[in-house]
Amino acid sequence: RKVVIVGAGAVGATFAYALAQSGAASNISLIDQNQNLAEGQVADLSHGLPFYPSLSIEVGDATDYSDANVIVITAGSAQRSGETRLDLLKRNASIIEGIMDDIIEQQSRAIVVIVTNPVDVLTQVALNHSRWSRSHIFGSGTVLDSARFRYFISQEMGVDVKSVHAYILGEHGDSEFPAWSLTNLGGVSIQQYVQSNGLQEHWPERSRSIFEAVKNSAYHIIDYKGATNFAVGQALVRIVKAILRDSHSILTVSVKLKGEYGLNDICLSVPCLVSKDGIEKVLVANLSKEEQQALHHSASVLKQSMEGLL
Ligand code: NAI
Repeated sequence: RKVVIVGAGAVGATFAYALAQSGAASNISLIDQNQNLAEGQVADLSHGLPFYPSLSIEVGDATDYSDANVIVITAGSAQRSGETRLDLLKRNASIIEGIMDDIIEQQSRAIVVIVTNPVDVLTQVALNHSRWSRSHIFGSGTVLDSARFRYFISQEMGVDVKSVHAYILGEHGDSEFPAWSLTNLGGVSIQQYVQSNGLQEHWPERSRSIFEAVKNSAYHIIDYKGATNFAVGQALVRIVKAILRDSHSILTVSVKLKGEYGLNDICLSVPCLVSKDGIEKVLVANLSKEEQQALHHSASVLKQSMEGLL
């Protein structure tokens, strides 16, 4: 149960820490182009070994791809001053292509999870570049956003977050949307819950502000502390556990659509069945008309970004 993490920055290191504690992996290799950073993170993480479940944590290199079960890519570069989003996208796309070349060269059979942003576009870049199947390369997508959504609903409703089932779909970014029609609290639809608890009066505004809170979370946290790392680290553990433990979990990862939802050749998040073979199935949820439109809107926004790369 070997996991290679590429990128030992805020997200990669926090994920490594959370994964080590989860007991799901027996070997974690951390790779970063900044060798000192990788060495430092691995030393610090390793000093916790007496307190984790048994595992080994090492600084890795490209040869570690050959026998990895899962490779999680968090490597990327931050926006430079004066640089456009498209310039940044191009730079990150070439980083992802370089890493995919190394993975292919090592004849790796790992499941590759892309985290680097813009995650949907870069997942497609990795797929196009490698020509691997969509089951083997996918993005972390809106697993994090859906967790945030569940958290804000639980706060608003005063219900344990684990009883809230709710999904953010589409782009991991500005065009994402809440699938309210799928949202339920212990099986009771959110509409029914709101009504039977006398909460309907301000519900339209409150539901909008729940979604705004989700969408703006990353911006707020980055303003406060420079990066988001803890919740994404947990979201990545959830995804990687589903693979390592073959748990057939339903997660909103970013997958290349092939006709599902009337969309083709674009990566975005919809519910998927995740197991040891990666994405085993793309689930087609019964979305409302507005939600279907929102999904198509997200797809057109992402298609534009992809065209920008040509
Ligand atoms: P960071 O800047 O702290 O870490 C990135 C690391 O990647 C750096 O240490 C850098 O040296 C390394 N790197 C760059 N090029 C490399 C290469 N070719 N090979 C190996 N390592 C390389 O950034 P942070 O905060 O860890 O974020 C990483 C990425 O994750 C960003 O793109 C960020 O937007 C994204 N992210 C995605 C989320 C999601 O839900 N999909 C949530 C949070 C962050």
